[in-house]
Amino acid sequence: MMNVCTEQTARLLLQWYDRSKRELPWRMNHDPYRVWVSEIMLQQTRVEAVIPYYERFLRRFPDVFALAEAPEEDAVKAWEGLGYYSRVRNMQKAARIIAASGGIFPQNADELRKLPGFGEYTAGAVASIAFNQPVPAVDGNVLRVLSRLNCDDRDISEPQTRKSAALQIGQWIPDGRAGDFNQAIMDLGATVCLPTGEPRCGECPLQQHCLAFAKGCQRSYPVKAPKPERRQEKKTVFVLLHGDLAAIRRRPAGDVLAGMWELPTVSGWLSEQEQREQLSGWGVRLQNNALQQLPAAKHVFTHIEWQMKGVLIQAAEPAGTKGLRWITPEERSGEIAIPSAFRAYLRYLP
Ligand code: ADE
Ligand code: SF4
Repeated sequence: MMNVCTEQTARLLLQWYDRSKRELPWRMNHDPYRVWVSEIMLQQTRVEAVIPYYERFLRRFPDVFALAEAPEEDAVKAWEGLGYYSRVRNMQKAARIIAASGGIFPQNADELRKLPGFGEYTAGAVASIAFNQPVPAVDGNVLRVLSRLNCDDRDISEPQTRKSAALQIGQWIPDGRAGDFNQAIMDLGATVCLPTGEPRCGECPLQQHCLAFAKGCQRSYPVKAPKPERRQEKKTVFVLLHGDLAAIRRRPAGDVLAGMWELPTVSGWLSEQEQREQLSGWGVRLQNNALQQLPAAKHVFTHIEWQMKGVLIQAAEPAGTKGLRWITPEERSGEIAIPSAFRAYLRYLP
């Protein structure tokens, strides 16, 4: 295996980055707070999808103190639609720790990693981008680019492969430009060495040094074991309305979306008869006798897939219902965050 990680290739990559880097809102400056928020959002979400959330989040919480002082509900609300809500809850815990030390971030990856929500990747990204510490930040883009450059047959979902990639990158980072270098590989992966379709080797600054290009086998990399199949779960989602009020409730602990607000959802596809029994269990009386069945929808989580059917009910007076909270449209657009798993049915809310 040739070693592509040389001073010369690092220079080529940085020259390319200086010409071609993407203008992104978190690249305006190196404020660790801004860098951190972006890296957390980008972990499970694409750049284009992140940008509007990012800008809104920073207007609402412009610095670590603003985030630390806000009620958790507000932080979760600002995250609504991004998913993986433990990300924002952990961020707020870390913000409170940082705010308590005068708002000063730990300046290196080892110290950052001690904070809630800072894994290997986030610690490396913040330390290198905000503080220029020469540490790796290995994400999926980096793994793909490296595996192609080296025709590396190891499975990129193995922690060992990631560790080895981190070691290579750590030695490859040129003096003084750690943040730019890490972001250069990410950008190369996102815009040139593409994950799907044909990589744009014609535009790649590393083409002359790429083993996969030389062999014409770019598409065989990265090697990745197929993921175990997602568990399929059937759900019935109740859209319960009374005038402009809608019923929500807290999701139970220990399940996906634990502690989040939901449209009342139960396991299985209930028959009309079962739906009526469920409603009476909640103490919901119908205004007219109609149950309007709504189109099916699905939502994909990391390990689970929900196959949902919905039912719309006009309820009589909500007084006396059990375990349900009835919210106004103002509360819904205000502090109440409902995960996008329910998006297909949220459109029926007033
Ligand atoms: N993906 C995650 N973090 C990134 C960054 N800082 N630049 C480009 N892509 C990224
Ligand atoms: Fe990726 Fe092609 Fe560049 Fe190799 S030459 S790193 S396969 S874009």
